[in-house]
Amino acid sequence: MLVRLLYASRATKQLSAAVQDSILEQSRAHNPRLGITGVLCYTDELFIQVLEGGRDEVCELYNTIVRDDRHQNVRILSFEEIRERRFGNWTMGQVNLAKVNPSLLLKHGERAELNPFICSGYASMALLEELIATALVGSRGS
Ligand SMILES: Cc1cc2nc3c(=O)[nH]c(=O)nc-3n(C[C@H](O)[C@H](O)[C@H](O)COP(=O)(O)O)c2cc1C
Repeated sequence: MLVRLLYASRATKQLSAAVQDSILEQSRAHNPRLGITGVLCYTDELFIQVLEGGRDEVCELYNTIVRDDRHQNVRILSFEEIRERRFGNWTMGQVNLAKVNPSLLLKHGERAELNPFICSGYASMALLEELIATALVGSRGS
């Protein structure tokens, strides 16, 4: 049974390239074996990540991620059973939201800035889907 989980969190410290690289390295090391795919979006202060895969694998990985002290205030935005993957091409794609065209953010939110903590999970997911459709997701980590 496949599920898709979307969460947002705040970086404990301003996100450095070293932390970003290490998360991607860990994702690359573990996700293929777990059958997990998804995308990690970040700014220098927050993360939004979508995880897709088997229910046990997604829940176990989420339980590990939630305890990671590189972030805090982890909030589940949505969790659903799915028939098929939408992010199947990415072991863990990455998107730097600072580089996203503000008009794309405006399309899905009240302002040209992303605040997943106040907008609906639906709006955050719609933005992620648009990012993959417009090929803004980096292939590093896939
Ligand atoms: C925002 C964020 C996203 C993460 N995403 C993943 C992921 O998709 N896959 C993964 O294995 N680890 C991910 N991690 C890292 C895990 O929390 C954990 O540190 C890692 O799986 C431990 O790997 P290790 O046992 O090889 O050191 C993420 C961490 C953070 C802070």
